[in-house]
Amino acid sequence: MQTTVAVIGGGGHVGLGLSLLLADTGHSVVGIDTNVANNARIMAGDMPFKEEGAAPVLKRVLESGRFTIHDDHAAVSAAEVVIVILGTPIDSNLNPDLKPLRQAMATIAPFLRPGQIVMLRSTIAPGTTDTLRRMLEDLTGLTVGQDIDLVFAPERVIQGKALSELPLLPQLIGAFDDAAYARTEAFFLTFLRSRCFQLSPTEAEMGKLMTNMFRYVQFALANEFQMLADMHGANVFKIIDACNHDYPRLRIPDPGPNVGGPCLFKDGWFLLEGVAFNEIIATAFRINESMPAQIRQRLAKVPTIRRVAVLGMTFKANSDDTRNSLSFKLCRILENTNYEVVRLDPMLSAHSDWQVLDQVDAVVLMTPHDCFAELATIRRHVGRDDVLYADLWGFWREMRYCSANGYFWGHDIPH
Ligand SMILES: NC(=O)c1ccc[n+]([C@@H]2O[C@H](COP(=O)([O-])OP(=O)(O)OC[C@H]3O[C@@H](n4cnc5c(N)ncnc54)[C@H](O)[C@@H]3O)[C@@H](O)[C@H]2O)c1
Repeated sequence: MQTTVAVIGGGGHVGLGLSLLLADTGHSVVGIDTNVANNARIMAGDMPFKEEGAAPVLKRVLESGRFTIHDDHAAVSAAEVVIVILGTPIDSNLNPDLKPLRQAMATIAPFLRPGQIVMLRSTIAPGTTDTLRRMLEDLTGLTVGQDIDLVFAPERVIQGKALSELPLLPQLIGAFDDAAYARTEAFFLTFLRSRCFQLSPTEAEMGKLMTNMFRYVQFALANEFQMLADMHGANVFKIIDACNHDYPRLRIPDPGPNVGGPCLFKDGWFLLEGVAFNEIIATAFRINESMPAQIRQRLAKVPTIRRVAVLGMTFKANSDDTRNSLSFKLCRILENTNYEVVRLDPMLSAHSDWQVLDQVDAVVLMTPHDCFAELATIRRHVGRDDVLYADLWGFWREMRYCSANGYFWGHDIPH
């Protein structure tokens, strides 16, 4: 089955990967995206962000004519499957902000017609598909389940590896009825080498949020273990590695100071909206978000530290995505207390100058990019040894066990 697909938000971090994969599978795909500058870049064959293996696929699907991207929502009318994958932020009160999604639905409504599948793929709070169903019916006069199908099938790929993960990840399909599920499953099976699960829309909405929050809470627990170990003068990495080794019921992740990003930062609040008993996720948020403050407290114990280098401004290793990265929070709270902060991130052209490391008193590893793997290279750029290093990831193997939970002095590093 090959079909015509419109992807609303088709130039975004997940919309583009999905569009490329669908076009490469043989579907005829139109991306519709309001970011016209980005669209022009994509049409010129230039990937706007890092996505493994995407550049040759983009070239191929543009040449074949199976993929195009522009900002004209009227193209929705020609599509059999309409996928909506827009950003779904939280507002300043940490509540889901449905405005972008509502606006997009209102824009495409005049172009929707009987027989289409409308697939929501953005991460949304439980009950949102149902809210949007009523809105869609009011705007179009079409009845979901009779004239048109509306499903929620969340995106669960890890950013940067969409092309390799998409064919392998089971799909959760939240459908209002069996027929909508069957049509959507048939569509996914055009490229999927795994299986689909039939859920209600609310179950699928919760499935996506539970997937992300399970990870987020585990990272918070690892961060709490790091703080507890520190309190007791014990090395958390030694404990974690020893406990995990060959023990079948344990996978404690490493702690990390940058548990953020556009998804983990906000998804928990989608689950918590209006819920009184929200202790674990809310507490996990407070722990993960407090890691930069913990680093500042540690630096403050050494009064001679004035100039601090922050390594890595993105929320994830080897990515160029800075959204909701806690590196910015760390820089802000350091600068607010009069530290001079320099930023180094070779994944971002604005911060790619290694010379900033010259004359720093402390180096904080916020994002464990591969290009930071050699501690010796960093030390060479720093140029002296009376420098405090903070590696809360336990990334630099030579100091993983010797250090006080990621804090160590340059002169203590073995040669
Ligand atoms: N980034 C991830 O790794 C990831 C993974 C899984 C799920 N998600 C979820 O997927 C959704 C999208 O995330 P993202 O990171 O791709 O966001 P993004 O901001 O990178 O992409 C959204 C795109 O939608 C476009 N857009 C906004 N309004 C529009 C409109 N009215 N019409 C057409 N285009 C419009 C924007 O220009 C942008 O290109 C979010 O709900 C997110 O939580 C993200």
